[in-house]
Amino acid sequence: MSQPGGTFDIVILGAGSGGYAAALRAAELNLTVALIDKAELGGTCLHRGCVPTKALLHAAEIADQTRESEQFGIKADLVGIDMAGVNAYKDGVVARLYKGLQGLLKNDKITVVQGAGKLVAKDTVEVDGKRYTGRNVILATGSYSRSLPGLEVDGKRVLASEHALKLDRVPSSAIVLGGGVIGVEFASVWKSFGADVTILEALPRLVAAEDEEISKAVERAFRKRKINFKVGKPFEKVEHTENGVRATLAGGETVEAEILLVAVGRGPTTANLGYEEQGVTLDRGFVITNERLHTGVGNIYAVGDIVPGLQLAHRGFAQGIFIAEEIAGLHPAVIDEAGIPRVTYSDPEVASVGITEAKAKEQYGADKISTYNYNLGGNGKSQILKTQGFVKLVRVNDGPVVGVHMVGARIGELVGEAQLIYNWEAFPEEVAQLVHAHPTQNEALGEAFLALAGKPLHSHS
Ligand code: NAI
Repeated sequence: MSQPGGTFDIVILGAGSGGYAAALRAAELNLTVALIDKAELGGTCLHRGCVPTKALLHAAEIADQTRESEQFGIKADLVGIDMAGVNAYKDGVVARLYKGLQGLLKNDKITVVQGAGKLVAKDTVEVDGKRYTGRNVILATGSYSRSLPGLEVDGKRVLASEHALKLDRVPSSAIVLGGGVIGVEFASVWKSFGADVTILEALPRLVAAEDEEISKAVERAFRKRKINFKVGKPFEKVEHTENGVRATLAGGETVEAEILLVAVGRGPTTANLGYEEQGVTLDRGFVITNERLHTGVGNIYAVGDIVPGLQLAHRGFAQGIFIAEEIAGLHPAVIDEAGIPRVTYSDPEVASVGITEAKAKEQYGADKISTYNYNLGGNGKSQILKTQGFVKLVRVNDGPVVGVHMVGARIGELVGEAQLIYNWEAFPEEVAQLVHAHPTQNEALGEAFLALAGKPLHSHS
């Protein structure tokens, strides 16, 4: 017999970025919340995604800087990568943030429930025989690492990203299946740590969701870093060899390595959770909602990676806040998916907001848009850092900038200004008036806007 667990303003199933953000905002708005998760609070991003991978990428940057220190006149030898030390640093970062999050969620208004929940009625989630009833329910169950039919992830030779994050050694060689965000980030880390890396990507280019010129720049940089990649051919199969794996591509070409990382996308975690039984519409596993994130069933909302679109933690945060405010009757503005900033933290980094040149041509007509590329060669701070890359602006003629695309070391930090420009629909002439500090990489963005406004300083128009 199931017992009552309590009645709340909101019952949230899943305490990842989307779920916990909804809980925190709801509590601020004096709503009572049950926040249910079978694993640790913080979900994929904190424990198995964004945070630990970025710690690895930072360690990778230090390895590269040590290796290349001579070009700055500093003599240093890279004697090795101590993976136990790298993992201790990475785990320490996660542990501190986890502790902080637990502290934030210790709120009178939030009841944290540990256990696997299932939607058993339109307003009820059951956990270990206890029923938590909500005047509103938020589905926030996140995503898992997908694989391909017949490709078995064993966690030893064939890994998903959660296994790759826990490796206790640097592999001598690695195949990375998928040249999307996870693929290029891990390829970048392992190369910096000294592994021989080959990326296999079915689409014609790496980071294929980005503007085409950005892909070209990443490919150029990866070639220079001697990261191998094969694009345009789908993967066919993987076999175990004596000491590792052999991957075969369509057409028969093979690549061998010690391990293979599967990075072909993440699927929504929505199976066997009672969603369909309660009438929630799923499309290939994703929960279909309206633009206000309502499922159309009872008072059930959905947030984060289970909702079709960008699978990014900060999108989850924004959606979680949105739903809490919606439930509180604050009528928040709908989130513009294109206005969500995107950063890939490989070396070089990629950052973008808005739409690509190809998409803009499709949307506005080829003769209605113009683009401008500002090369980091003209940017003092980028020269100091010895990085190459550019800032590309896509503008509707006589209108606002609808896409900002950037590539280069540390360029991800520039996305803050880029997203303000995009989301405020700023005209180049308006941005050109703003003073950018010298010498910063941020200035590259300012220079690009000066040029687009017809008054370039350190570039030719
Ligand atoms: P993804 O969708 O970015 O890339 C997967 C890639 O695998 C695609 O380019 C696809 O063409 C390729 N692929 C699929 N089937 C293939 C096949 N049979 N043979 C060869 N290639 C094949 O997905 P990814 O990289 O796994 O990341 C999952 C999610 O996690 C993404 O939505 C991403 O946004 C998010 N994420 C975000 C990060 C960030 O913001 N920095 C970091 C890591 C992940």
